[in-house]
Amino acid sequence: MDGQIDRLQSVGDLRSNLIDEARDILRRNDRGGYTVPTDALYPFQWNWDSAFCAMGFASFDIDRALTELESLYSGQWASGLVPHIIFHRDADTYFPGPQVWGTHQTPPTSGISQPPVTASALAYILNASQSASAGPSQDTLARARALYQKILAYHDWWARERDPNGTGVVAILHPWESGSDNSPVWDEALKAVPPTQNPFQRRDVALVDSDMRPKQWEYDRYIYLVELYRSLGWNGDRMWAQTPFKVADIGLNAILMRDELDLIDLAERFGDDDTVKRLKARALQRRKGLDRLWSEARGMYLSRDLLRDRLVDVPSHAGFLPLWAGQETPERAASLAHELSRWISLSRFGAPTMSPDHAEFDQRRYWRGPVWGIINWMLSEGLRRHGHVALADEIKHHTAALIAQSGFSEYFDPLTGEGLGGGVFSWTAAVGLAWALD
Ligand code: DGY
Repeated sequence: MDGQIDRLQSVGDLRSNLIDEARDILRRNDRGGYTVPTDALYPFQWNWDSAFCAMGFASFDIDRALTELESLYSGQWASGLVPHIIFHRDADTYFPGPQVWGTHQTPPTSGISQPPVTASALAYILNASQSASAGPSQDTLARARALYQKILAYHDWWARERDPNGTGVVAILHPWESGSDNSPVWDEALKAVPPTQNPFQRRDVALVDSDMRPKQWEYDRYIYLVELYRSLGWNGDRMWAQTPFKVADIGLNAILMRDELDLIDLAERFGDDDTVKRLKARALQRRKGLDRLWSEARGMYLSRDLLRDRLVDVPSHAGFLPLWAGQETPERAASLAHELSRWISLSRFGAPTMSPDHAEFDQRRYWRGPVWGIINWMLSEGLRRHGHVALADEIKHHTAALIAQSGFSEYFDPLTGEGLGGGVFSWTAAVGLAWALD
């Protein structure tokens, strides 16, 4: 590991080659105004992938960065929902496609969402345009203002449809909404969901080794949930009332909190004073909501199963993400840093998405252990914001070393550093450009 870091630091060429390669990946995965996460395995536009891609583009092309967000918001519903997939064109290498979702939108989309990162991305782009020149151009500001209005509607959707009782925490109604699809955190709640009775053919396991992907029992239930919501006409109230899967994901709530704080900054920048007041009140309520997900026994945050009304005692990387939101007390930040550092000490490369000493840790299987560049970015920046600079730097160095060893893979084995999943991955390239290789 140290050898890798030394190599990275001592060979300046390697760094600039990697930066060129990362730019090239974003360009190659550009399908004309939007970026696919990777060829074949994910041939459409994904919500949070795109937000990270926009931040990657911002390091060398502000116009293209804004276009990425504009394309994503071309799929926004009248309700404010920004779906997790926008099917801009046909492709037969992915399941479930637009017919399975049956949302009747133009362009066709899925009917659920994903962790919201677009206010953070827009703030990032504006900062990048500030430092790249005398300041954002009039055109950049006008486009940013138009996006801001749409992001506001998206946040209001989260509050209205995923926290209708105003508790301060939003729920996910599908594991895919968390972004960490097969995390062991969902196992118990998902087992209570019936499997679909309709045969279907997965495409992912034809493209990637099945030991790196979710298991079949999970897919049977992922598809059941899609079919159920489709039968409810994707109506938010009916989905909320009838879902068999309703979890307050700590990861999503933390990311939403950070995005909402960035949205408040945008509202201030655009002089939208009433919105600033309204969002500040909502942020206070969200803060109280996060507090209810703290586990004193674990010294970190957990998710809450809302149908069973209990914390899910399965710690994952998501329990550290409130650091990214940036509002932890020194005591809680120290507790989170301490536990995260313990997980990293059990790995060769950090940060694993499950602790290697947890019974469900699986070093190759998607969100059950592997290291993800975007998660490392959020954890590291969150630690830095709370003054835990050494650990923040360690995670950043691990990320750079993983990229140097295994390229811009979708995710990495924390024990060997092997690149896993989809090969040439846009958001890993974006993280390299915006953060890990800077
Ligand atoms: C997938 O298909 O693996 C995605 O993560 C769901 O959006």
